[in-house]
Amino acid sequence: MFSFLNRKSNLLGLDISSSAVKLVEMGRKGREYCIESYAVAPLPEGVSNEKDIIEPEPIGDAIRKVMRESRTRLKHCALAVPTSMAINKIITLSASVPPAEIEAQMAMEADQHIPYPMDEVSYDFEVLGPSMHNPDMLDILLAGTRSENVEVRVAAAEMAGLTVDVVDTETHALENVLRKLTNELEQYESVAVIDFGATMTSITVFEQGRLTFSREQSFGGRQLTEQIMHRYGLTWQEAGLAKKEGNLPENYISEVLDPFKDNMVRQLHRFLQFYYASSQRESVSQILISGGCARIPGIDEQIQSVIGTPVKVVNPFAQVALGARVSPVRFTGDMQALLIAAGLSLRGVG
Ligand SMILES: Nc1ncnc2c1ncn2[C@@H]1O[C@H](COP(=O)(O)OP(=O)(O)OP(=O)(O)O)[C@@H](O)[C@H]1O
Ligand SMILES: [Mg+2]
Repeated sequence: MFSFLNRKSNLLGLDISSSAVKLVEMGRKGREYCIESYAVAPLPEGVSNEKDIIEPEPIGDAIRKVMRESRTRLKHCALAVPTSMAINKIITLSASVPPAEIEAQMAMEADQHIPYPMDEVSYDFEVLGPSMHNPDMLDILLAGTRSENVEVRVAAAEMAGLTVDVVDTETHALENVLRKLTNELEQYESVAVIDFGATMTSITVFEQGRLTFSREQSFGGRQLTEQIMHRYGLTWQEAGLAKKEGNLPENYISEVLDPFKDNMVRQLHRFLQFYYASSQRESVSQILISGGCARIPGIDEQIQSVIGTPVKVVNPFAQVALGARVSPVRFTGDMQALLIAAGLSLRGVG
């Protein structure tokens, strides 16, 4: 079930996050990519613990809702397992290993690198090409997870009447959207993409265009929403809305938002330390930020001034056309949070 294969026909990309279900349908008009439709539906409290799904039924309901709201006609989808639940490993084999033997070799590698009994594991691999350090070797990406992480997500999609054709990892969905829609990965010697979500924050690093490091940790905009609730006596919904619209008392910026932004910078700093410790590098050439919290005004400049690396808010959709079913204003407000869903949908677009 765990499968990287690209499909020929269009697919819905379904991002089941900790706070919402996001659907994106991408297509192609001539040489141009197009967002045919999209929708986002929030998930009720208690559906998942961070990204561990506790109840699939409310997710099935939210998927039905995004399908209705997006007015898509597609019934086949791609979904992803979170970075924190997936094992990604670059395996290097001799380039002389015949293609027919790669599969058997990778089964052995999977057994060695995925720390669960093999009958509880789903995995797949993708040949990336000649090794960066030695052209006589081949880099092969191995990705795996516990099968239960796949099954619970597939069950939720099937409850909504969808057929799941592709199960990917969030890391690769992110890579796919950046690779197909931008030249950000090739442009820099090394680039770190930081996604600040609702409960989780992830870092994905690319060196010379190739994915080399990913990590996900508990931190996100939910903490800011909770602080607003407690501080100003608002409900969860009111606090979430006030945060986006900015209509809060004057002391909000200095006493609530600024400390949260400082915390975002600290989290990023820690992530970079993990990366440096694992890579023998001491810097990255560019930082890209994404996720809903990337919309917080001035966060890019603040990160740049503290960390000292160029920072920008990623926008893979700058050259993408919007279909008739997509409201440009709404899309502009949501797009930083749609990268995973778009990357998944692009698995079905050549
Ligand atoms: N304009 C905005 N200003 C501040 N925060 C925002 C804005 N828009 C969205 N957010 C916050 O971004 C978070 C949602 O981001 P995102 O959609 O990337 O998370 P998610 O993918 O649902 O969650 P996760 O990745 O943690 O599972 C929420 O906390 C939301 O309040
Ligand atoms: Mg997310």
